[in-house]
Amino acid sequence: MKVWITGATGLCGRAVTKVLKENFDVTPTAFSRAQGDVFKLDLTSEVEVRAFFETHKPDALVHLAAERKPDICENQKDVTDSLNISATQRLAQLTKEFNCWFLYLSTDYVFDGSQPPYFPDSKANPLNYYGVSKLRGEEVTIEENSNAAVLRVPVLYGDVEELGESAITSIAKLLSSTSEAKVDHWATRFPTLVYDIAQVIEKMLLGKPAGIFHYSGEEAMTKYETAKIMAELLGIESGHLVAEPNQTGSALRPKNAQLDTAKLKDAGYYVKPTSLVSCIKDILSPHFQ
Ligand SMILES: NC(=O)c1ccc[n+]([C@@H]2O[C@H](COP(=O)([O-])OP(=O)(O)OC[C@H]3O[C@@H](n4cnc5c(N)ncnc54)[C@H](OP(=O)(O)O)[C@@H]3O)[C@@H](O)[C@H]2O)c1
Repeated sequence: MKVWITGATGLCGRAVTKVLKENFDVTPTAFSRAQGDVFKLDLTSEVEVRAFFETHKPDALVHLAAERKPDICENQKDVTDSLNISATQRLAQLTKEFNCWFLYLSTDYVFDGSQPPYFPDSKANPLNYYGVSKLRGEEVTIEENSNAAVLRVPVLYGDVEELGESAITSIAKLLSSTSEAKVDHWATRFPTLVYDIAQVIEKMLLGKPAGIFHYSGEEAMTKYETAKIMAELLGIESGHLVAEPNQTGSALRPKNAQLDTAKLKDAGYYVKPTSLVSCIKDILSPHFQ
């Protein structure tokens, strides 16, 4: 099966590309970091994207590319719309035209976090523009290609190029200083390993389901609790970290957008999530030498 992966240079895309390469004929694409066997393709260019379809004729498209930094989404809505919505819509149209299965990766930020857990058919109500744009991306995907799948996932972590690349590993930056730091102890999050998502996507590629699915790590933790776990595993003193009971950050975020995964389990695409405690030391250690 020929599988096209967009966003292949990103946090999730690197893991998905690595895993899918083992069993599929993979064509990875990205933009500014594209090099080697990753093709450079600007998804906002209608002409380039159609030409790519005509040349490569993929059987499946795993669409991971997105603008996902909440502050950029809030302040550059045109840029965000052109990648998260318009490019997604064109890809959905083309997958329909070329009879190619389409998977769109989305986010728990489509929910407001006030009434967890959330099911695939729960009412969405995004609190920030990132969530708004990803929800609209879901809608255009399903409107344009009724055979497409949407996979919603929560905050991701995995092997990072630098600690700031993922919202989970960036917490570890607080451990390199000894100055008092307030850390969010308000929002509950479910860190999810990108290699687990890659395996879920691998299973979905074999079944090619349609509709919305949820996948999530199982461990609930605030940023403060995550920082304490990391400190203990790395053997770093963390007395300078202070639990902040109120919401922090500039863009509004959900308090607890826990995703219910029963539908994915029933469909046979679930994989047992890796425990953060079991792998975060290996992920962080290269950045603490
Ligand atoms: N990270 C999370 O915590 C999280 C949580 C839930 C859902 N998600 C979703 O998961 C997916 C993957 O997220 P991620 O964290 O892996 O993203 P990421 O690390 O920010 O990577 C974004 C990717 O999009 C590519 N890209 C950006 N502009 C492009 C353009 N104009 N044309 C083509 N490609 C372009 C980037 O390529 P270059 O870097 O080469 O330019 C990069 O490969 C996204 O859909 C995101 O919404 C992420």
